[in-house]
Amino acid sequence: MRIVVLVSGSGTNLQAVIDAVKAGELDVEIAAVGSDVPGCLGLKRAADAGIATFTVPPADYASRPEWNRALQAAVAGYAPDLVLLAGFMRILDAEFVAAFDGRMVNTHPALLPSFPGAHGVRDALRHGVKVTGVTVHLVDSGVDTGPILAQAAVPVLESDTEEELHERIKVEERKLLVETLRKLSS
Ligand code: GAR
Repeated sequence: MRIVVLVSGSGTNLQAVIDAVKAGELDVEIAAVGSDVPGCLGLKRAADAGIATFTVPPADYASRPEWNRALQAAVAGYAPDLVLLAGFMRILDAEFVAAFDGRMVNTHPALLPSFPGAHGVRDALRHGVKVTGVTVHLVDSGVDTGPILAQAAVPVLESDTEEELHERIKVEERKLLVETLRKLSS
């Protein structure tokens, strides 16, 4: 299974996938890692692992549809079987989603359908839930609305800050993501 991974930030989920592949625990080929954020740590992790990288910053395009088409073309150029959104923080338009229909997976730091969007951890904490977690799901044209593939629960502690809770979610997220990719590849 050839995958292209899209990242916007620190890339710890990407690193978990890289490590699992290197350890022979996950039979996927990471064809390339792409980002909307030039120089982000996720891109550096990919380059350090000898993986091809590409960057498609929205600021380089006159309109959002043009940016979507450019990113879509860059991803399609690697002919992936699956596109993984691992901390990719931009919304992809319907045409992009249709191009990889049923072959695009996102990981989200909350138990969907609760707390979709860019601040899943903060929103769950502010709501006062006692249990939150992580969801790995197929991407459809909505925001974090596609069919759920796997979830893991994480208890919220009284003392939690957003950062502390997110870090504990990410420990579970990395395991769940690798496990879900393993199932998909087999
Ligand atoms: C992850 O927790 C991921 O679920 C979240 O960003 C983090 C990226 O961490 N994504 C979203 O919130 C998407 N709505 P990473 O860059 O260290 O993998």
